[in-house]
Amino acid sequence: MTSKKTKIIENPELLVNAGNPKGKLGEELINDMNINHENLALWGVSHLNVSKNSIVLDIGCGGGVNVKRFLEITDSKVYGIDYSSLSVKKSIELNKKEIENKRCEIRLESVSEMSFDSATFDIITAFETVYFWPDFENDLKEVNRILKEDGIFLICNEALPRKNDARQKEFVDLLNCSIYSEQELINHLNNSGFSEVKTFIKESKDSFTNEDADWICVIAQK
Ligand SMILES: C[S@@+](CC[C@H](N)C(=O)[O-])C[C@H]1O[C@@H](n2cnc3c(N)ncnc32)[C@H](O)[C@@H]1O
Repeated sequence: MTSKKTKIIENPELLVNAGNPKGKLGEELINDMNINHENLALWGVSHLNVSKNSIVLDIGCGGGVNVKRFLEITDSKVYGIDYSSLSVKKSIELNKKEIENKRCEIRLESVSEMSFDSATFDIITAFETVYFWPDFENDLKEVNRILKEDGIFLICNEALPRKNDARQKEFVDLLNCSIYSEQELINHLNNSGFSEVKTFIKESKDSFTNEDADWICVIAQK
């Protein structure tokens, strides 16, 4: 029997939605990501010190599970942005109660031009999304702008570049995305005004193919 995980990776029409979910297949993929990215997200969040006072933004919030997670940790406000109207709709559905309580806001925005005032956030996170950002260093400068002094930016990816990996190349071509190495992430963050960058790598599994994959978590301080 074909497992659901195999089905996703072998169905390019479904997978192509990872960078900008749309329509019925986009909804299916968001529902899968909410479940399949759970272990990666928990590992990433374990490197953060989120306090009751932390104001948090999750960029590329997808189905909104990380927004929901942060709402359970902090007593302050949690925001999510995504440039896919479907992702925004799904995140709003999942966090409806806290949106009504005015503790949560989900906005339809691109990382390249965010509507937040400078120095707004204590913590900004990006799970499985930087691959798709259109102008990486300028987008990182925009993230840096809206972080408070000493604010923390977390990047959490389950893909690092693999040489001579035809399947990864197919994935990159299909999605028109970039898979950054540890050193590339460090360089781009340093060039965008982040002062201290720490990286963590974990040998694990790809959440969709279940093949061996190295996860990376980057903690960058403004
Ligand atoms: C692979 S999904 C990951 C969703 C979620 N963070 C997770 O871990 O399950 C990538 C998300 O990033 C969003 N995204 C990609 N590029 C973006 C950009 N330039 N600005 C805002 N959101 C973006 C996509 O629309 C999509 O919802």
